[in-house]
Amino acid sequence: MKAKIAILPGDGVGPEIVAEAVKVLDAVARRFGHDFEMMELPVGGAAYDTCGDCLPETTLAACQTADAILLGAVGGPKWDALPPEKRPERRALLGLRAKLGLFANLRPAKVWDALTEASPLKNGIVARGIDLLIVRELTGGAYFGEKRRAADGKSACDTTPYSEREILRVARVAFAAARTRGEGRAPARPCGEGRAPARPCREGRAPARPPKVTSVDKANVLETSRLWRETVTALHASEYSDVELEHMYVDNAAMQLVRDPSRFDVILTENMFGDILSDEASQITGSIGMLPSASLGDARGGLYEPIHGSAPDIAGKGIANPIATILSAAMMLRHSLGLAAEADAVDRAVSDTLAAGVRTQDIALGNDHAAVSTSEMGNAISGALLRT
Ligand code: IPM
Ligand code: MG
Repeated sequence: MKAKIAILPGDGVGPEIVAEAVKVLDAVARRFGHDFEMMELPVGGAAYDTCGDCLPETTLAACQTADAILLGAVGGPKWDALPPEKRPERRALLGLRAKLGLFANLRPAKVWDALTEASPLKNGIVARGIDLLIVRELTGGAYFGEKRRAADGKSACDTTPYSEREILRVARVAFAAARTRGEGRAPARPCGEGRAPARPCREGRAPARPPKVTSVDKANVLETSRLWRETVTALHASEYSDVELEHMYVDNAAMQLVRDPSRFDVILTENMFGDILSDEASQITGSIGMLPSASLGDARGGLYEPIHGSAPDIAGKGIANPIATILSAAMMLRHSLGLAAEADAVDRAVSDTLAAGVRTQDIALGNDHAAVSTSEMGNAISGALLRT
């Protein structure tokens, strides 16, 4: 197939890790006979330095017409002093999410067989299995609500608006994802059919248990959470009663994630809670360098990025783990391009590479081998992909 992919390396470790994911996409194209047209575009602080804008018009326009977008990371100390609305995080990342209508953020977290040692949790907890999917609402809540600072600078407020419509559409994605994970390895319909990505495809291993959605809120305190809970409950009763639904307060969810993560299948939550819980989920699986994400809307052209940031402390050293970005590219193949076999091949190449003991420094704990560099990891994974 032919596909147009917008490549946005961005800042910090972004260019290093994206280069490895591009290597893997090239290997996929070679092995499966596809034609991926990859257009590299400036974004974030790097774009600010060259064009005076963290999200140049040309970058946005190319993203709007691409079949999918692969993003590294944006931001860094160099641009921290910019006015809030010009900063890379607000202008580029939140800007892309909002302008492209990417309201559903899928963040799968699982422990890879070869990496159980890297999890900070006790063996007994890890052995019960960790394989969950966080569905985070991505274009509402405090991130996009009205913000104010008093004239004297000494008081401030951020509002957290949510509408029933916003809750319904992301809740549908979570229930559909739970169903698809429960269906096992064969999705009910081909992934990517009609390019309607808001019904996500299976990610990773399907759990043996019945599908379950845990909706996370703070309904004992917040009015938006009460609306969230009512809306999810009503949707479940009318359209998804085959899926198990439970509600959980966010503080309890944070605790259960370290106490017994095996109890979770799909976690559905609002923007800010999802940001926090997904960092926590990444740590229990071993490293934040392993977690990919897909941001989907109603239209074509999802955005795929690792959940970690630009990591300026290790940028340019060639030691960042590119796996989260490579797995994000696999999610892109699955969700936006309808290439499930290719996505499985990338997942397998990552798994084989880890099984062979290849480790970047963040996941080297308990491993006999010396840590490899970012590009050595990319070479190993694309090599494994071309061999199998
Ligand atoms: C993430 C990041 C972003 C977020 C930041 C960089 C604005 O932490 O994608 O999780 O909070 O959404
Ligand atoms: Mg985050």
